Amino acid sequence: MDITGCVVLVTGGASGLGLAAVQKFLGAGARVVIADLPSSPGADIAAELGEGVIFKATDVTSEAQVTAAMDAGRELGTLRVAVNCAGVSSAVKTVGKGGPFPLAEFSRVIQVNLVGTFNVLRLAAERIGEAEEVDGERGVIINTASIAAFDGQVGQTAYAASKGGIVGMTLPAARDLAPLKIRVVTIAPGLFRTPLLANVPEKALAALSNQVAHPARFGRPNEYADLALHVAENAMLNAETIRLDGAVRMGPPQ
Ligand SMILES: NC(=O)c1ccc[n+]([C@@H]2O[C@H](COP(=O)([O-])OP(=O)(O)OC[C@H]3O[C@@H](n4cnc5c(N)ncnc54)[C@H](O)[C@@H]3O)[C@@H](O)[C@H]2O)c1
Repeated sequence: MDITGCVVLVTGGASGLGLAAVQKFLGAGARVVIADLPSSPGADIAAELGEGVIFKATDVTSEAQVTAAMDAGRELGTLRVAVNCAGVSSAVKTVGKGGPFPLAEFSRVIQVNLVGTFNVLRLAAERIGEAEEVDGERGVIINTASIAAFDGQVGQTAYAASKGGIVGMTLPAARDLAPLKIRVVTIAPGLFRTPLLANVPEKALAALSNQVAHPARFGRPNEYADLALHVAENAMLNAETIRLDGAVRMGPPQ
């Protein structure tokens, strides 16, 4: 799909992988709506990036706010791409020193990562479905899971469950949306140096990056954005979850 002039909704677009996607799509000629929390630096980022970008304070778990973000994007053109990057991390053991995993924390992670992703997917799909068909396509929805969907670590039951849910919904969503000529593709990043890892100690980060086979380093947000743009442009990519991880396969604790 030629994304020139299309509107791309990027959730979590004020930081990390989402911000890199915002910059990449903008550079490729798209217009972008950054949908991120009001507490994020999204407004400043949009002002800095200038024409073709707007920020709309959005909680991805809210139907009204996601709809308002898409409505705001109408001034830029036709929505054809949604990139789901909003997400939260969590590190809590199933049974830890403080007792069993608090259900409220489990629900929070599922609510933002899984329900939020599906909320955006369903609402964006309806909106993209109203667009005119171009070259046999209407648009694409790109989700962000994680390698934790496959190789979840100690403390990652909630996070891994939320990301596993995103992987699981990819094929049925793509099948549901095929009649509308909308594709659904999920990217499962490995280790990327973003604010999401801000609370992980340097020593632990070094141990993690040492497990990456090749290239033996953290991924760069730009590399995630390159793939997101390619997914949008390549019409044959559909219903797939693509690991982007330098061949890392996280093992059990040593
Ligand atoms: N960084 C990594 O190594 C890595 C690895 C695998 C998967 N991921 C996934 O990639 C995505 C992006 O992560 P990142 O590393 O860029 O993190 P990040 O913390 O830099 O960015 C996440 C963004 O999501 C926003 N957000 C959080 N809750 C939200 C909500 N309810 N509504 C709207 N926005 C919300 C935050 O404000 C933030 O701007 C996440 O889904 C994360 O789970 C990241």
